[in-house]
Amino acid sequence: MMRLYIFALILASGLGAPAAAQDSLEPDRSATGGAQTLEDILARQRGEGIDDTFRRENTGSPDTAAGIAQQLGTLGGSSDPELWRALRYGSADITVSSGGEVAAVLVQDGGMWWLDFRRTTLKNWGGYFLLGVIGALIAFFLLRGRIRIDAPMTGRTVVRFQAIERFAHWLLAGSFILLGLTGLLTLFGRTVLIPAFGHEANSFILIASKWVHNNAAWAFMVGLVMIFAFWVWHNLPDRTDLKWIAQFGGIIGSKHPPARKFNAGQKVIFWSVVILGASISASGLSLLFPFEIPMFAKTFAILNDLGITGVLGLDPLPTELTPQEEMQYAQLWHAIVSFVLMGIIIAHIYIGSLGMEGAFDAMGTGEVDEAWAHQHHSIWLEDVKAADKGESATGDATAAE
Ligand code: HEM
Repeated sequence: MMRLYIFALILASGLGAPAAAQDSLEPDRSATGGAQTLEDILARQRGEGIDDTFRRENTGSPDTAAGIAQQLGTLGGSSDPELWRALRYGSADITVSSGGEVAAVLVQDGGMWWLDFRRTTLKNWGGYFLLGVIGALIAFFLLRGRIRIDAPMTGRTVVRFQAIERFAHWLLAGSFILLGLTGLLTLFGRTVLIPAFGHEANSFILIASKWVHNNAAWAFMVGLVMIFAFWVWHNLPDRTDLKWIAQFGGIIGSKHPPARKFNAGQKVIFWSVVILGASISASGLSLLFPFEIPMFAKTFAILNDLGITGVLGLDPLPTELTPQEEMQYAQLWHAIVSFVLMGIIIAHIYIGSLGMEGAFDAMGTGEVDEAWAHQHHSIWLEDVKAADKGESATGDATAAE
C-alpha cells in the first residue's frame, strides 16, 4: 500500500520529465496543478527550507467569489483547501467574539518545531549538560579533594554575612532549588514519572509542581533583588581579580591569591545569578501571564538591526510572531537559561559545602574563622580588622600579600 502510494506520488510529481524541473529554480508543479510535489515533500522531510509561497499565497480571492446564490458563494471565493491554507498560514480573515488576537489564531503553524525541539533537543542537551556538570565535579573532587584550611584554626571569628544577608541568600537558594526541581519534573515528567509511577501519579505531581513553581518564583525574585542590593558593590571588578585569575584562584596548586570580600570566581557566580536570574524572571513572568508580555519579536528586531544575526551567519530572526509563538520562544529561553544557571549553581553548591572546608559557616552562622578568612579573603580580613580598630578601611592600603 505504502509503495503504491509513493509510486503514485512519483508519477504525480512528473518524474517522467525531470530535466525541466531540475534546471529551473522554481520546481515544475504543473503536474500537480500547482500543489506541492514529491520533491517538495522530500525536501521538507530532509529539513531543507523550501519557499512555500506557492502554498502560502494560494488562498483564494474574494474577487473570484461566486454570487451568494451560487454554489460556492458562502466561501467568498475560496475553496475549502484554500481556506484551510489561509488558516494555517495565519492570513485568513478571522473575526472572534472574544479572546482577541490570541483566539484568532486557529491553526498555529509554528507549533510543531517547538514541540519537537522541546521534547527532543532541549531535554537531551539539558539533561546531559547537568549530568556532565555533576560528573566533572565528582572528577574534580577525586583529583583535587577538599580545599583545606592550611593554617591551624585560630578560634577567633569575624562576621562575614549579617542575618539579613543570609536570609536573602537562603530565600534565593531555597526558592531556586524548588524552582529547579519542579521545572525539571515538568520537562521530564513524561519520560521519567509516567514509566515509574503511572499517569495518575504523574498528573498529581505535575499539578503540584506547577503550583509550587508559579509561587516560588516570587520568592526567587525578591531574593534576587535583595542580594543584588547587598552585594553589587563588592562584586565590581578590580585589579585583584586579575591576579586571582592568573593563579587560578589557588584551586590548582597550593598558593592562595589575595582577595577582597568576593574573589573573581565568586564575582562570576554573582553576575551569572543576577543576569541569568533576571532573564529567567523576565521570561518566567511572560509565561506566568500568558500573552500579556510579548518580548521576543521586539528583541529579534533589535538583534537584526544591530547586525548580530548577520555576524553569526544566521538568517534574520522573525520579527512578526503570533502570540503563541511568543509563548513558545519564552518557554524555550526560560528553560535554556535555567539549565545554564542550574549548571553554575550545582558547582557553587559543591564549593560552598563539600568542596571547601569552612566555607559553609559563612552562610550558616555568618561567622568564619580568621584562618579561613586570611587564606581566602586576605584583603577583606585586613579591612574588617582595620574597621574594628576604628581606622579607615581602604583595601589598597592594607593589602595582605
Ligand atoms: C544548598 C545550596 C547552597 C549552598 C550550600 C550555598 C552556599 C554558599 C556560601 C557558603 C556562600 C558564601 C561564600 C563566601 O563566604 O565567600 C554563598 C554565596 C553565594 N550564593 Fe550560595 N549556596 C547555595 C545555593 C545558592 C543558590 C541556589 C544561589 C542562587 C540561585 C546562590 C547564590 C549565591 C551568591 C550569588 C553568593 C555570593 C557569591 C559567592 O559567594 O559565590 N547560592 N553560598
